[in-house]
Amino acid sequence: MGRYIVYGGKKLFGTVDIHGSKNAALPILCACIINSGINIIHNCPKITDVFNTCKILQMAGCTIKWENSTVIVDSSKAKFIEIGEDITSKMRSSIIFMGAFCGRFKKAVVSKPGGCKIGKRPLDIHIEALKNMGVVIDESNNCFVCDAKKLKSAEINLRFPSVGATENIMLVAAFADGKTVIKNAAVEPETMALAEFLNQIGVNTVCGDNVITICKKCDFCNAEYSIIPDRIEAGTFMAACACSGGEIFLKNADAHNMGSVIDAFDSMGSKIEFCGNGIYFKAPDSIIPQNIKTGIYPNFPTDMQPQIMAVLTLARGKSVVIESMFENRFNHAIEFNKMGANIEIDGKMAIIKGVKELYPKETMAFDLRGGAGLIMAALSCNGMSIINGSTYIKRGYENIEKSISGLGGIIKYEN
Ligand code: UD1
Repeated sequence: MGRYIVYGGKKLFGTVDIHGSKNAALPILCACIINSGINIIHNCPKITDVFNTCKILQMAGCTIKWENSTVIVDSSKAKFIEIGEDITSKMRSSIIFMGAFCGRFKKAVVSKPGGCKIGKRPLDIHIEALKNMGVVIDESNNCFVCDAKKLKSAEINLRFPSVGATENIMLVAAFADGKTVIKNAAVEPETMALAEFLNQIGVNTVCGDNVITICKKCDFCNAEYSIIPDRIEAGTFMAACACSGGEIFLKNADAHNMGSVIDAFDSMGSKIEFCGNGIYFKAPDSIIPQNIKTGIYPNFPTDMQPQIMAVLTLARGKSVVIESMFENRFNHAIEFNKMGANIEIDGKMAIIKGVKELYPKETMAFDLRGGAGLIMAALSCNGMSIINGSTYIKRGYENIEKSISGLGGIIKYEN
């Protein structure tokens, strides 16, 4: 396992390029298998989760070709495979192949997925929805064995707007006779991006107020699509700058889907301006404490919770962060405390009493965004910090060391 070495205490200045969104790229790559054709996907982030998704596509007979940040997926010769634990254990989003395979091959065998250990993360909503669509699912040996020969469209009312479940249903619905309606659907920007891609390949997908309607497609077409900028990566660099001080330009960041994150940084005292092709961000002189609660879009994203907590450890008073999405997403707080932060955890609530400074330490990333938060914290302190568990961070950030170095921060990756 590699690690990051950060020499903190330097303000960040300059421009950072925001890459394509991980959470948009992953389901869109899965969706490439459903159209039996050529899919040209621009602005695809070069991160481990994307490489692993491409690996599954390749194992399933697709050809993958990279040209800079464009990936070309030819799925015309795709074939059924069983998706085993060796790969599903690496990322949770592998479960979206269940919908894609049930559609294209009328069957799927997918081992239960892994991913970040941030809570129980059940899959009951996915399973119940697919069953409602006529898919027979046998859950044995840590594996979902699906028979979709009797696939049918349905009206599905999700008990919770799960992002992954919404995306799984959208993919399988492209093959179900008639019209599938998902009520209480996830309407995160990344799900909307998948809807846009489906429309590109010829699947009529209409998104309304928490309702997504998908009609069966008879002829698919080739597609060319550009992945939306990563709102979480953009927010992460805002947090980096807020921790270290300085002023940066987030090139390609899209303010439209970052409302709650921008509001939080704004209330902290940051200066934020929107330009044609990005966002200008100036760190607060003194960080104003905040009360933040994570929630479904457009509320504050759970994927930004650790990074904002890193900033709030340095605020001039008491902040409260409530994690309402996942039960166990505060592992980073223990690591922040090792660096001198004052955080108390009480169930889903973290009470953060701001301290003047954090101290360099050796810490451990336990999940992707928590790991990013540890890098943010390390950037704030004078001296050398070590962040172990880089594998998590590489799942979702393309060359984070290069981006931070480009802003004048001192960080290196050691394998
Ligand atoms: C996606 C994102 C992840 C983000 C999360 C919440 C991708 C690849 N991942 O994950 O980065 O943190 O949305 O915004 O896009 N739930 C159930 N039963 C289910 C499914 C979910 O109870 O069948 C619960 C989960 O335990 C969790 C909540 O619903 O408490 C949200 O999960 P979900 O929206 O499904 O997240 P993911 O799709 O896994």
